[in-house]
Amino acid sequence: MENNEKFQVKTVEEFFQQPEEFQTSIRKIVRSHAINELYGSQVFDEPAIALAPTPYAKWLTCRVAMEEYGHHVRFAELGETIGIPHDDLLPRSGGKRPLSIFDFAMKTWPEFCVLKLLGDLAEILQIEDLIQCSFHPLRNLARMTIPEERFHAQFGEDFCSDLIEQDDTREQVQGAIDHIYPLLPAFFGAANSRNNITFRKWGIKVRTNEAMREDYKNRAHQLVEKLGLELPDAVA
Ligand SMILES: [Fe+2]
Ligand SMILES: [Fe+2]
Repeated sequence: MENNEKFQVKTVEEFFQQPEEFQTSIRKIVRSHAINELYGSQVFDEPAIALAPTPYAKWLTCRVAMEEYGHHVRFAELGETIGIPHDDLLPRSGGKRPLSIFDFAMKTWPEFCVLKLLGDLAEILQIEDLIQCSFHPLRNLARMTIPEERFHAQFGEDFCSDLIEQDDTREQVQGAIDHIYPLLPAFFGAANSRNNITFRKWGIKVRTNEAMREDYKNRAHQLVEKLGLELPDAVA
C-alpha cells in the first residue's frame, strides 16, 4: 500500500471486504470521535449553559451543546454500522480514556469561551484532515461536521472579543488561555505515532501528528494575537 492515491472505499459493504488493518484503523478513529464528542458535550457544553451570562448566550450555548451531542450521534451511528459494539462508543467504557483536555475543571464562562476558541480549533484541524479520507462514509461525515465546528470556534472568538473589552474579564480570558492552551498540543498525539503512519498508509489521514501540531500552534497564535492577548509557552 505504498501508493494510496487511488485507494477508495466507497461503502460500508466494501469496508468489510478490506484488510483487517484498514478496518481496525477506521474503527479506532470513529470510536475516538464518538467518545470524545459525547464527553466534551457532557463536561463542557452542557454545564456551560448555566454559566452563560445572558439569554442570548444561553441560547447559542444550547445550540453548541446540541451540535456536539449530534456529532457523537453521527460518529456512533457510523461506528455501529462498521461493527463497533455500542458500549465501546461511550466515554469510560471498554477502558478507552477520553482526551486529557477533559480533565480541565471548567468553572467560568470565560473558560468555556476559551475552550471553544482553542479546543474547537484543534477539533477543526482533526476533522479537516479527514475530509479527503479514503473511507467515504467517514469523509462525508467529516464534511457535514466541519461547518458546525467552525461555528463553535467562531462562537469562542466572538464571546472572547466581547469579554476582552473590560479589564477584569480580559484578565479572566488571558488566565483561561494560560491554563487551557498548554493542554492542547497533546491532543494531536505522539510524534512518530505508529497509528498515524498506518492511517496515512491507507489514505485515511493526510498529515503527521507533528505537522498538525505545528499548524495548530501557528493558528492558535494568530487567533490569540488578533485578540491582543498572548499564548503561554506550550508544553508539547
Ligand atoms: Fe464536535
Ligand atoms: Fe465543536
